[in-house]
Amino acid sequence: ILMVQEQYETHEHDLLIIGAGGAGLRAAIEAKTQGVSVGLISKSLLGKAHTVMAEGGIAAALGNVYPEDNWQVHFRDTMRGGKMLNNWRMAQLHAQEAPERVLELERWGAVFDRTKDGLILQRDFGGHRYARLAHVGDRTGLEMLRTLQQHAVAQGIEVYMECTVTRLLKDGDRVVGAFGYRRSTGQFIVVMAKAVILATGGIGKLWKFTSNSWECTGNGTMLAVDAGADLIDMESYQFHPTGMVWPPSVRGTLVTEGVRGDGGTLRNSSGERFMFRYIPEFFKAETADNEAEADRWYTDKKVNRRTPDLLPRDEVARAINSEVKAGRGSPHGGVFLDIASRRPADYIMRRLPSMYHQFKELAGVDITKEPMEVGPTAHYMNGGIRVDADTTATAVPGLFAAGEVAGGLHGGNRLGGNALSDLLVFGRRAGQHAALYAKSFSGAPTVDTGQLDACAREILMPFEGKGAENPHAFHAELQETMQPLVGIIRTETELQEALVQLEQYRKRLPQVRVEGGRTYNPGWHAALDLYAMLTVAECVTRSALERKESRGGHTRDDYPAADPRFASVNVVVRKRHGAIVTALEPTLEMPEDLRQLLQEKG
Ligand code: FUM
Repeated sequence: ILMVQEQYETHEHDLLIIGAGGAGLRAAIEAKTQGVSVGLISKSLLGKAHTVMAEGGIAAALGNVYPEDNWQVHFRDTMRGGKMLNNWRMAQLHAQEAPERVLELERWGAVFDRTKDGLILQRDFGGHRYARLAHVGDRTGLEMLRTLQQHAVAQGIEVYMECTVTRLLKDGDRVVGAFGYRRSTGQFIVVMAKAVILATGGIGKLWKFTSNSWECTGNGTMLAVDAGADLIDMESYQFHPTGMVWPPSVRGTLVTEGVRGDGGTLRNSSGERFMFRYIPEFFKAETADNEAEADRWYTDKKVNRRTPDLLPRDEVARAINSEVKAGRGSPHGGVFLDIASRRPADYIMRRLPSMYHQFKELAGVDITKEPMEVGPTAHYMNGGIRVDADTTATAVPGLFAAGEVAGGLHGGNRLGGNALSDLLVFGRRAGQHAALYAKSFSGAPTVDTGQLDACAREILMPFEGKGAENPHAFHAELQETMQPLVGIIRTETELQEALVQLEQYRKRLPQVRVEGGRTYNPGWHAALDLYAMLTVAECVTRSALERKESRGGHTRDDYPAADPRFASVNVVVRKRHGAIVTALEPTLEMPEDLRQLLQEKG
């Protein structure tokens, strides 16, 4: 065992955080208050993480609009939305702690929209019993990230910008740092640490039509599974019901659920409010089944049953998919989302300024006068790295995970707005517990040089590729596999075909070749991301094969109903002897008092 060699740019911290979105920044702030030294690696520039794209709001039972709201109702909504596959303890902690995390953000300078009384305003979103989303127009993620970033920088964290991590470093079983490269210079970077938090976000770039930005290539998920961690619920991927469908260059761009929360309704080509035909048994008691009642809810929020436009996302996405398949879609293969006929222009401009500009500039549509065309878009990884609810520790010593990269909280389907609160609640917990873990070790972490040299050789492989495969074309081909075969509706035959194709891609990977040098070489960066994408694509596909039923964000055409045998089962995926394997494991047993909460109506 040797200390890190000089030839690599090397750094040492008590704690290394990989990912500078909401979870990573919140973790960094908390760890600093514990008195440890913190290094933060960001794939993009600081302040540009995908969290900035979050639009509609942060879910937290503040009770500012509905005083009857509380953590118990938020917990119940989250579990029901997740089809009870959620880790109940995560759902409980999330619901209990989200309000304080939002208030804390306000104390750090976040400027939220206000009620008439000057409280933080809360808007409606699907699956939430009460208007619960604290927001800043439709740019909530931007304000959240700006606030966290300013606060974190003021605490004195060390930031390594535009660096991509390709491997976690281990000393025996324990994670002791990370190896990567600077995207601007191609220089190798080694950061040694007593604990590492993965906060790398999602995997949306596996699909062709996605709301996710370029960073979301599943790097953290790959790092975890390769290091020996378990993933859960990977079959449960969220297709957000409303992405843009036209023009083709922006297909998939998010259209916030806030449009429906603020009064927008979905219609098919005949102008029908089709969602009334798709109310599942589970939600019948609380969902209006006729237009008059739904309209009353829109005008007088105290009416008990909510509009079906705001059913949980999995239900709405499937309904839109069915309408389009049945030939009742819009001209460009979506459905219509109309807010113009229900709300005045000044209201729309004030509440949804980004949506107004997005449609005006990208599609030439004035949403204050015309309906939008929308359809499902790959949006969010409901599953992810399995963590301990209280500490966010993974099964690998020294490795923690928080935010979208971690699984458990959302179960079979995430409710809108629960992602931003997830980042704050579990980002803080990750920072706290990883710092405590780091403090329990004396002495510097070490790694053998052979491991570093292997990492360096691996990074340079695309320059020595044996064939003429272009990394960008390779990525596009992978998306052509995932979009139709592991998309919103799946079958055994399609999933098996996807596995065959993934195996072929894996064999072709050594043929990927990049030209040019290591300075600002996007082809090289794309080539390096391919391994992560192939690994994660296989995890999703194998998990989807394993769950032979339809539940939440996982719909099997060949098993269209929920099967009681899978009701309390997580699909776990891990790497053993170099192969990705799956197992069915029981969900955590829920205590009786929480079980009672789930029985309550309303
Ligand atoms: O629709 C939205 O604004 C997305 C929010 C979310 O995914 O939580």
